[in-house]
Amino acid sequence: MTRRLLTMLSAILVVAAACSAGASPDVTKLRDPASVAAGTALYQANCAACHGTDLGGGRTPDGGLAPALAAKVGPSDAVLIETVKRGSGFAMPSFATQLTDEEIASIIDYVRSVQVEQLEE
Ligand code: HEC
Repeated sequence: MTRRLLTMLSAILVVAAACSAGASPDVTKLRDPASVAAGTALYQANCAACHGTDLGGGRTPDGGLAPALAAKVGPSDAVLIETVKRGSGFAMPSFATQLTDEEIASIIDYVRSVQVEQLEE
């Protein structure tokens, strides 16, 4: 089998896995590598303290639980961006004044790139 065919097949498998999990098609959307790179640094600076450096979840400063983001393939990009902008109204702060729309979009590009890697496993 050619390498190209294998790549195509694995892409189909990823989409199939995402669909069977009821995931948003946004999860498998192609991401701009420059945006993913920018989002990686922004995530580590703004989100990793609570959600973990690997998106695996963690603790808030007051000991609460912050959910794993790696598993959040369901919501669309728009929903994830809104969550980051507004905060949860509870344990997660709003980032509307700290981060620009472009920065938040980059963070979500990074989150998606990790989610896609995990779907491939
Ligand atoms: C102070 C800790 C903290 C920081 C910093 C933080 N979060 Fe959160 N986040 C939480 C908690 C806790 C929740 C779960 C909702 C709640 O309990 O308020 C959450 C929920 C979420 C959700 C919704 C997940 C779900 O289960 O539906 C997303 C998406 C999210 N955070 C992304 C981010 C991103 C991206 C950043 C960085 C820009 C970030 N968070 C920074 C604590 C944090």
